[in-house]
Amino acid sequence: IRSIILRPDGGSGLAGQQARVGGWVKTGRKADKDAFAFLELNDGSCAGNLQIIVEADKGDLGQLVLTGTCLQVDGVLKLPPDGKKQKVELQVEKVIHVGVVDASKYPLPKTRLPLELLRDYVHLRARTNTMGAVARIRDELSYATKRFFHERGFRYVNTPNITTSDCEGAGEMFQVTTLISEAEKLEKNLIKNPPPSEVDVESAKLIIKQRGNDVAQLKSAEQDGKIDYSQDFFARQAFLTVSGQLQLESYACALSTVYTFGPTFRAEKSHTSRHLAEFWMVEPEMAFAELEHDMDCAEDYVKFMCQWLLDHCMEDMEFFADKIDKSCIDRITMSAKTPFARITYTEAVELLTEAVKNGKKFENHVEWGIDLASEHERYLTEVKFQKPVIVYNYPKEIKAFYMRLNDDSKTVAAMDVLVPKVGELIGGSQREERYDVMLSRMKEMGLPIEPYEWYLDLRRYGTVKHCGFGLGFERMVQFATGLDNIKDCMPFPRSAGRADL
Ligand code: 4AD
Ligand code: MG
Repeated sequence: IRSIILRPDGGSGLAGQQARVGGWVKTGRKADKDAFAFLELNDGSCAGNLQIIVEADKGDLGQLVLTGTCLQVDGVLKLPPDGKKQKVELQVEKVIHVGVVDASKYPLPKTRLPLELLRDYVHLRARTNTMGAVARIRDELSYATKRFFHERGFRYVNTPNITTSDCEGAGEMFQVTTLISEAEKLEKNLIKNPPPSEVDVESAKLIIKQRGNDVAQLKSAEQDGKIDYSQDFFARQAFLTVSGQLQLESYACALSTVYTFGPTFRAEKSHTSRHLAEFWMVEPEMAFAELEHDMDCAEDYVKFMCQWLLDHCMEDMEFFADKIDKSCIDRITMSAKTPFARITYTEAVELLTEAVKNGKKFENHVEWGIDLASEHERYLTEVKFQKPVIVYNYPKEIKAFYMRLNDDSKTVAAMDVLVPKVGELIGGSQREERYDVMLSRMKEMGLPIEPYEWYLDLRRYGTVKHCGFGLGFERMVQFATGLDNIKDCMPFPRSAGRADL
């Protein structure tokens, strides 16, 4: 349908040609005493629908007009008789497939459902205009990402989803274990197929216990944090990754410029409109580079994506501007063209303090040392600068262990890219490349050294200045579309208390 209706001539140049199209009926109505029906068909290839005309002898019009019906047809493209609209229509010659809908039960009516309600139907919501547009924007941004990095010589590296390292040291990791399920299976088997004698039952139970696989024992040990993982699948404690950064650093210290783009997982209990338990992150990592290069790369990358949206996604962007957030096109245009503001954390705190003095009320207290709250980020980007702002050199206390200590010994070479509407879009830093400094920082923070020995090796052998950042992909989608909730920027969102399908 896209190749027909998104032509510059609205498809009129195709009039007279045969076409086969398939899609789902958005709306339909019978006309001329049920002699034929007009259907608006959408196949998700673009936001627009193709109008198709079916005569009564070609199919059951009562069924075909129902929203949600799937239809594949052969026909001839023709200009509408009134000639006012430029878009072509399809006169159906043969119906090839009909996937019927029970209209009394179909959960997606013709009228728009609130996005919040649609989240109860994540398996069907891709058929709505909004979620179709989100899916296309995601795909375009993902393609733009690969283009951007590939064209600049970055190699795409697949970092692991299952890991034994806590990158952020924030303890927000989901654990991967088979212990309890294996123990449960063993116990169930024992109940279903008891060994022949009482003695055998006891010895079987003993075997289970010896293997550390007693369910009750495991569950309580897990609670106490005293579980013995040597019997587990990986023979040690393993987690879903919160970031590919640490492993990516090992490739940056060999291939120089690399990036990864994959799912990351965080056991975030916070119920906000900006957090997901599973989200995608784009993470470049560059050797022979310092914080300033990091900021340049982040700014270029965000600008490249914004320009991509303007060049390739205007039909969907106009939909979002019309239905969701009227300022989204202006915001993206401005971000593509205007240099981002760059201020130190200290300057950011000064500006916020000044705002408080001038009567601005924040819920969170402002003083040097605080982590910037979302309301602070939004003040800086939406009120003070009215464009993206890069804040750098944060206090070391509020940032991760791997960030490079600055000469003042108080701040680290970290940078966050903040954008209007969303707040923090990117978090990055120059990495600590000095072995001694890193080791003493880790000790100061009370981190266990053994699990990070491999990471310290990167500093022991052939160390180099390097830096990188992570962009939250769903936050980029939120920035582009203006959607209020990040759950609508992800096809199948996962959050505390919720994982459908
Ligand atoms: O600032 P973060 O935690 O940085 C890192 O993970 C670094 N290891 C990245 C790196 O330097 N390679 O996360 C990076 C970005 C954030 O700026 C935010 O956009 C997004 O990931 N993000 C989330 N997005 C959705 N849901 C969550 N729970 C998120 N947590 C972080
Ligand atoms: Mg961050």
